[in-house]
Amino acid sequence: MSINFKELAKKYDTPYYVYDFDYISEKYTELKTAFKARKSLIAYAVKANSNLSVIKHLANLGAGADCVSIGEVKRALKVGIAPYKIIFSGVGKIDSEIRQALELGILMINVESDAELNRVELIARELNLVARISIRVNPNIDPQTHPYISTGLHENKFGVDIDTAKRMYIQCKNSEHLEPTGIHLHIGSQLTQLEPIKESVKIVADLVRNLAAIKIELSFFDVGGGLGIIYDDEKLIDTNEYAQSILECLFGLDITVVCEPGRFIVGNAGTFVTKVLYEKVNGNKRFVIVDGAMNDLIRPSLYNAYHKIEVLNENKDISDCNLVGPVCESGDFFAKNIQLPKTEHNDIVAIYSAGAYCFTMASNYNTRGRVAEIAFENQEDRLIRRRETFENIISLEEEFIK
Ligand code: LLP
Repeated sequence: MSINFKELAKKYDTPYYVYDFDYISEKYTELKTAFKARKSLIAYAVKANSNLSVIKHLANLGAGADCVSIGEVKRALKVGIAPYKIIFSGVGKIDSEIRQALELGILMINVESDAELNRVELIARELNLVARISIRVNPNIDPQTHPYISTGLHENKFGVDIDTAKRMYIQCKNSEHLEPTGIHLHIGSQLTQLEPIKESVKIVADLVRNLAAIKIELSFFDVGGGLGIIYDDEKLIDTNEYAQSILECLFGLDITVVCEPGRFIVGNAGTFVTKVLYEKVNGNKRFVIVDGAMNDLIRPSLYNAYHKIEVLNENKDISDCNLVGPVCESGDFFAKNIQLPKTEHNDIVAIYSAGAYCFTMASNYNTRGRVAEIAFENQEDRLIRRRETFENIISLEEEFIK
């Protein structure tokens, strides 16, 4: 039985997100199994969907966590992911975040610049600790994805070039407070081409061999995340081919593979469900206005991203329209020029592939409370985040009214 969006709308009201936890398990297992020829760590990219129950579900399956703020690290720890399975990435870590990450003893910090490495060294010295370091290498390869989610070219702010990385590893080796532990790359998100991944992994694997030749032995090879999913009619990278081509590049190296999938695991597990408020026609343009908006799901507005949309009614009178929300911006739309049936007040609309980078990118714009999140597992639904109330939204301001 699949998820009954109408029933859930009655029970929890709309808008809401619902996530299929069994699907999440399947995708995790698919990737873990693809790497079975070697020791591997699937470090779930928490930013994709950081609901505690989602992370907990993955923790139960054995996942680690790839985090980009100390907040995400704390989420991972809170649901029982062991520190030795947690990685902390990001180009701009704050001193206090570095300090806490070191004190918590996580697996490694992914360092993205010379300046950051110096900072980590300084803080590790102050704490009299040794920081396990992984350096994010920017292989200067075009991942052939949307420019906003492309990260593997020198023109992007991410990582360091090969020569800089090498120098940084030597600095680690010579420091009492730094331990060269891993190497990292991540060339972009929603990747549908295997070739750029292969090329990048090969470049970085060569660096690992060069480092080994100067007695810098790394334990973890982190290939980042980025595996694409089907939103529309994308042709995907085969998971086994993906793993196989990475493992081939690592031939002869005694190193654990780390992979940081986000979207691949949760993207197609999630659906955003909203209901129709009104229809209107301006000139000859038809608009269907729903109760969800860009503050709930910003991907169409921000990236012009496509999400499959379905109106759950039986009406056969189909015509062109824009599906929009109540927020006071022309950019508040889920789809433009889409064919949808004529709708009635309260008709339910499902927006698919909404498990990744949807709730996590939501805001309170227009003083709209963030929506409820629901888990669906073993044919049962349960609330995993309550809908925000007006009181929740103003709670950090109220005391300051003069
Ligand atoms: N590792 C690193 C270092 C990352 O920067 C990311 C994503 C991931 C792993 C996970 O990538 P994934 O497997 O999910 O593709 N908001 C955008 C996506 C931003 C991705 C940022 N980094 C979107 O809605 O498409």
